[in-house]
Order: sequence, then structure tokens, then C-alpha cells
Amino acid sequence: MAILLPGGAGYIGSHTAVELLNAGKEIIIIDNFSNSKPEVLENIKKITGKKFKFYEIDYLDKEKLEKVFKENQIDSVINFAGFKAVGESVQKPIEYYTNNISGALVLLSVMKKYGCKKFVFSSSATVYGNPEIVPLTEECKVGGITNPYGNTKLFIEQILRDLYKSDNTWDICILRYFNPVGAHESGLIGEEPQGIPNNLMPYIVRVANGELEQLSVFGDDYDTKDGTGVRDYIHVVDLAKGHLKALEKLDKEEKGLYIYNLGTGVGYSVLDIVKVFEKVTGKKISYKIAPRRQGDIAICYADPKKAKEELKWEAIKTLEDMCRDSWNYIEKR
Ligand code: UFG
Repeated sequence: MAILLPGGAGYIGSHTAVELLNAGKEIIIIDNFSNSKPEVLENIKKITGKKFKFYEIDYLDKEKLEKVFKENQIDSVINFAGFKAVGESVQKPIEYYTNNISGALVLLSVMKKYGCKKFVFSSSATVYGNPEIVPLTEECKVGGITNPYGNTKLFIEQILRDLYKSDNTWDICILRYFNPVGAHESGLIGEEPQGIPNNLMPYIVRVANGELEQLSVFGDDYDTKDGTGVRDYIHVVDLAKGHLKALEKLDKEEKGLYIYNLGTGVGYSVLDIVKVFEKVTGKKISYKIAPRRQGDIAICYADPKKAKEELKWEAIKTLEDMCRDSWNYIEKR
């Protein structure tokens, strides 16, 4: 029985593919390379020494997706196929709603047709909007999101709740990621944003290697310890391992709809990241204080207790590991 990974050539998908293969699981990746490259598949094979099936298809293409389900015994699906750039989603709402929501609906309808009802969904801490309190537990209020990308995550969560309500033989796990950074320690896979990165760590590593001149720190007047934004950065390998634990939970426990935060529970400021990155890599990061970025919040970090208790999962890698592995990937590529 195989695990299907739509978007498995992407950043989080590829790291999860590695962990699943290392755990002896059979996987099938589908990807249309809209935000990833074919070399990633070779590198997953290099890291693990294992083979897997791959289909170059768009998950919105129902006929081709059905063919994958017909040709294979698929037991569960972890869905990584989603557009994820907050700013771009404001410019291209139709593309974001179509790819993320219609894509998920096509996927779920094909799964239903073929009797495959085990589903792990990549959601995001973005569903909490502007947090009223931190740390954020899974029970905190969701909504108040200011961009289409975040809305797609919230809407898909609601679709999954409605689906489970209609038929409780579905077995669903929603994982709310905090801020994934870092790369596999081999340096063979990592994050590859298109164009100039919007996220902090990909920007910092490109200042460190000279591709970009200077980091703009978006705001130093937030109500935080040094005035800069605070986030819960989590190593992508820890995050990837969370997916294995989520699948284990679905395999072992009663059918249900489960929601977990995947974060470390620790918040670091933008300047903390700059300092630790400089310490670990010996590279100086030139930065200037710039105005706040529209839509940004001051503080966001997880209460990771529920995942620890129920999934027996916990992030173990440090901020030093995150900085070192992000840099190692950029240096090697
Ligand atoms: N930041 C800068 N300069 C930059 C980039 C970012 O100062 O060039 C700051 C931001 O203002 C923020 C922090 O660094 O305080 C982190 O910003 P990111 O863009 O790396 O991450 P966000 O927290 O804004 O968003 C990320 C993902 C979203 C996800 C969200 C969940 O990009 O997809 O985390 O919390 F929804």
C-alpha cells in the first residue's frame, strides 16, 4: 500500500518523502513542477538510496489523477500541492483559489471514488490570523486572515470538517505548520523560492552569499523584546517527521478528524535570527530597519503540547541547526 504525495517535489514534500522512504514506506509522488524542479526527485533517491514512482501531472487534472489511483494501491494521501506565497496570492487570487481549493476538491473526490479516505493536510499557523494570545493552542480562534493564501488554508480546513461530518469513515489530520526553515543536512534538498524571496531565512542566506545586498527588517516598533517580529521557526526535517507521526496516529487510532500545531513553542525575533545566523556561519548580515510589511503580525508561536502528547512528536532541532542547514544548502547548490 502506497502513500501518495501531491506536491512531493516541493520544499516540505521532498523532506517528508525522504523521511517516509527512510522509514521503509512506499511512496508515489505527483508534481507538475510549478514551483519545484525534477532534480529534486533524483536527490531524494540519492539521499535515501530508495526508489519510488513519479507522475508529472497537475492534481487538478482529474482524469490523470484517477489513472494514478487505478494503477496503484493508495492507502493514504499527504497533500503538499498548494501555492504558498502570501504576497503573490494578493495579486493572483483566482490562481490561488483555483489551485489550492479546486485542487483539494478534485483530490478528495478522486480519493472518495477509489475508497481512499486517509488524508493529511498541510495547513498553516496563518489560519489563526492576528493571535489574541500566545502561545497558540489548536483551540484558539481562527479567521481574520488578510490574504487569499491564508484563506485557502482556512477554507480547506472547513471543507475537511464538513466532509468528516458527512461521512465519519474519513480519517483526517490537519497539520498547522508554523515557520518552516532549514534544509536536509546533506544539502541536496532545500527551499527554492522563485525570484526574490519573501520569507526571512531564504532572504538572509542570499545576503550571506552576496546574491542580495541587504536585509530589510520589516519594523522595529512591535511590542516585542527588541521591536522586531517574533515567529516560531521550525526545522523542516522535524516538520517532515511530524507527518509520519500523523500517519501513524491515523493508522492506529479510531477514525477521526485531528488538528495539530507543528511548531517548537519558542518564538525568536528577526534580530535573534540574524545574530544566530552570523554566529553559526561566520557571515555578516547587512541589514537596515524598514517600515512594517503590510499584513504582518507582531508575535506568533505555537503551544506544541497537543502534538507531543497525542502524536508523540516534538521538534528537536535548534535554531543553530536551522541556520547551519539553510546555509549549507545554499553553499552546496
Ligand atoms: N521579515 C523581515 N524581512 C524580510 C522577510 C521577513 O523582516 O525580508 C520578517 C517579517 O516581518 C516577520 C518575520 O521576518 O516578522 C518572518 O517573516 P516570513 O515572511 O519569513 O514569515 P511569515 O511569518 O510572514 O509567514 C510564514 C509563511 C506563511 C505562513 C506563516 C505562518 O510565509 O506561509 O508563516 O505563520 F502562513
